[in-house]
Amino acid sequence: MRSSSLALGLLATLLPTTLSQSTPAPIVTGNPRGAQYIATLPNNASLPNGTFIISSTSDGNGVYVQVNVSNLPASGGPFLYHIHLNPIDSSGNCSTAGSHLDPYNATEAFVCDPANPQMCQVGDMSGKHGGIANGTNYTVSYVDQYLSTQYGTPAFFGNRSIVVHFANKTILTCANFTMPGGAGGSGYGSGNGGAVSAVVIPVAGSSVGGAAATVTNLQTVTA
Ligand SMILES: *[C@@H]1O[C@H](CO)[C@@H](O)[C@H](O)[C@H]1NC(C)=O
Ligand SMILES: *[C@@H]1O[C@H](CO)[C@@H](O)[C@H](O)[C@H]1NC(C)=O
Ligand SMILES: *[C@@H]1O[C@H](CO)[C@@H](O)[C@H](O)[C@H]1NC(C)=O
Ligand SMILES: *[C@@H]1O[C@H](CO)[C@@H](O)[C@H](O)[C@H]1NC(C)=O
Ligand SMILES: *[C@@H]1O[C@H](CO)[C@@H](O)[C@H](O)[C@H]1NC(C)=O
Ligand SMILES: *[C@@H]1O[C@H](CO)[C@@H](O)[C@H](O)[C@H]1NC(C)=O
Ligand SMILES: *[C@@H]1O[C@H](CO)[C@@H](O)[C@H](O)[C@H]1NC(C)=O
Ligand SMILES: *[C@@H]1O[C@H](CO)[C@@H](O)[C@H](O)[C@H]1NC(C)=O
Ligand SMILES: *[C@@H]1O[C@H](CO)[C@@H](O)[C@H](O)[C@H]1NC(C)=O
Ligand SMILES: *[C@@H]1O[C@H](CO)[C@@H](O)[C@H](O)[C@H]1NC(C)=O
Repeated sequence: MRSSSLALGLLATLLPTTLSQSTPAPIVTGNPRGAQYIATLPNNASLPNGTFIISSTSDGNGVYVQVNVSNLPASGGPFLYHIHLNPIDSSGNCSTAGSHLDPYNATEAFVCDPANPQMCQVGDMSGKHGGIANGTNYTVSYVDQYLSTQYGTPAFFGNRSIVVHFANKTILTCANFTMPGGAGGSGYGSGNGGAVSAVVIPVAGSSVGGAAATVTNLQTVTA
């Protein structure tokens, strides 16, 4: 008995410890039409404000992302933005967002290469699509192939949050995703988002202008 348990112990130490191995994120198809989630950054004169709107595409392949942020700091960019696992607590403490949405275990250690977005963390939006430039209003829109608007699937983001960071990963600001016109946090089970009233015509590229924000009292936690 003693020798067999010793053997089992040895075997256990020899088994691979990397069970959480990274796998490429699959391209998401069949997203429910008409789903839309919006993260609206809180208004605070010393922080960036604006919206992240993520909608299903007309063909259900991937999602359509619209970023519109202003009041950005004059330096410290390019600013990073990620989808995090948890909603933000009611006090707006961005550190409660937890880790990045990473259902395929790309991990923090992996440096995202936009040329191989399937290997990036699914929630690493700036890694896959570029960071937010310094000191200007910033708008961009693009299709991301790896996010899901279907509740219950690994890449579903609609009940999670977005966090904006300095280039050095210090947190700037954050917001929950919510369904416009939706019942704030409930009703995801249908798979569809709330009613989408209007099609927003995106303007590609970034716009300029606007005074840079003065940032004080930053949270020092990074994620
Ligand atoms: C990711 O890692 C977790 C444990 O850390 C594991 O449960 C899960 O199966 C892994 N997922 C993939 C797609 O490898
Ligand atoms: C940010 O807030 C300012 C002041 O309330 C507002 O004028 C501006 O439109 C907001 N920016 C965005 C992108 O919503
Ligand atoms: C943005 O800010 C960073 C850090 O302050 C600086 O290194 C970089 O040159 C700036 N980029 C632009 C385009 O101004
Ligand atoms: C990150 O950069 C910002 C802006 O330059 C700075 O205020 C902050 O102290 C930096 N954080 C760390 C941890 O270095
Ligand atoms: C984010 O969503 C959660 C869950 O619905 C809610 O409890 C929390 O108050 C929200 N946080 C903010 C800052 O709105
Ligand atoms: C914010 O949340 C983090 C993580 O839960 C916690 O460690 C920290 O104490 C909170 N900060 C405040 C000011 O409540
Ligand atoms: C968000 O939805 C997923 C299903 O897609 C679920 O597994 C997860 O627990 C939910 N998270 C929160 C914070 O409600
Ligand atoms: C960004 O938001 C501002 C304020 O709501 C708005 O005036 C502007 O048209 C928006 N830009 C884009 C490209 O959606
Ligand atoms: C940039 O944002 C500022 C502050 O929200 C606003 O006053 C200005 O009109 C915006 N400029 C452009 C070009 O959108
Ligand atoms: C605005 O942001 C600053 C810097 O993070 C913070 O110290 C301040 O409490 C915020 N103000 C409000 C009203 O949330």
